[in-house]
Amino acid sequence: MQTLAEHLEKHVEDPALRHLINSFAYISLDAQHHFPKYLRGTLGDRNKYGEAVAQLDSWVNGYLCDSLVKTGVVRKIYSEELDSPLIATSQSAPFVVTLDPLDGSSNIVSNNAFGSIVGVYREDLPQKGRKLAAAFYKLYGPVNTFVYTVGKGTHEFVKHYDSEGKAQFMLLAESLSLPEPGEVFGIGGDPLSWEPNFLKFAKDLFRVEKLKVRYSGTFVADFSQVLHRGGIFSYPATKKSPKGKLRLFYEAQPMAFIMEQAGGASWSGKESLLDVEESDVDARTPLHLGNSYLIGKLKQACP
Ligand code: F6P
Ligand code: MN
Repeated sequence: MQTLAEHLEKHVEDPALRHLINSFAYISLDAQHHFPKYLRGTLGDRNKYGEAVAQLDSWVNGYLCDSLVKTGVVRKIYSEELDSPLIATSQSAPFVVTLDPLDGSSNIVSNNAFGSIVGVYREDLPQKGRKLAAAFYKLYGPVNTFVYTVGKGTHEFVKHYDSEGKAQFMLLAESLSLPEPGEVFGIGGDPLSWEPNFLKFAKDLFRVEKLKVRYSGTFVADFSQVLHRGGIFSYPATKKSPKGKLRLFYEAQPMAFIMEQAGGASWSGKESLLDVEESDVDARTPLHLGNSYLIGKLKQACP
């Protein structure tokens, strides 16, 4: 079985990018060891989106940002939990990264899965998702999985302990490809506030496509369902959130890159999420990710 470091050595030319990807897998693992201390309560603060900040959100953000800077290859971090980007002292470092430090924080209290999402660019933001040098996510589930792409397929690793008791990420699936036909779907937002055409599309996922509902409230976890079982995940525009809920740079672009590299498709309502041009790095977007034929049906249903 191949370790993440061995896989990167074989498939990623740039040593700095290899170092960043491998380091993040282990940094997030270290972070997880500290989760129990920060489980309870909110800080009474609100982030730039007006959302309550859980103790864990704030701690994980600090830990991941500090550790990313210490890799020596990151010069700037845009985080969902920071009001303004963090600028590292090593300004000659090659990468600018986006970070959703703790995706799915409403699941902290119930001990359901949550995750971390990272996008890696060589130039400063704003940039289209097409410019991503790499994207990866960590899923803190019953087992720890780490999924990355550098534009040469989407690969998944799982944490094991080796014979010396040392944690190692081992290759679980190389070049993942969404199963056809899809099996599951998850859609966020209040169905009564979806556009009528979108509501009909969603009903057809039951009636015509015979898909099953899977919705956890953690994007990373719901995305992982679609990646492994095929189907579609959407968080559409709603009356309450006309621009959708999920964030273009922190969530949509990295995950769209991972999805498209696994043979799936992404859609903002107008174009691939990798082609959206947006100047506000904190912008939200309607988001649809899944099997190409389902995204095709969505395009027909909601032109
Ligand atoms: O990051 C935002 C997020 O927590 C996602 O992880 C998740 O997909 C979504 O919000 C859940 O939203 P809601 O609580 O409206 O279903
Ligand atoms: Mn999130």
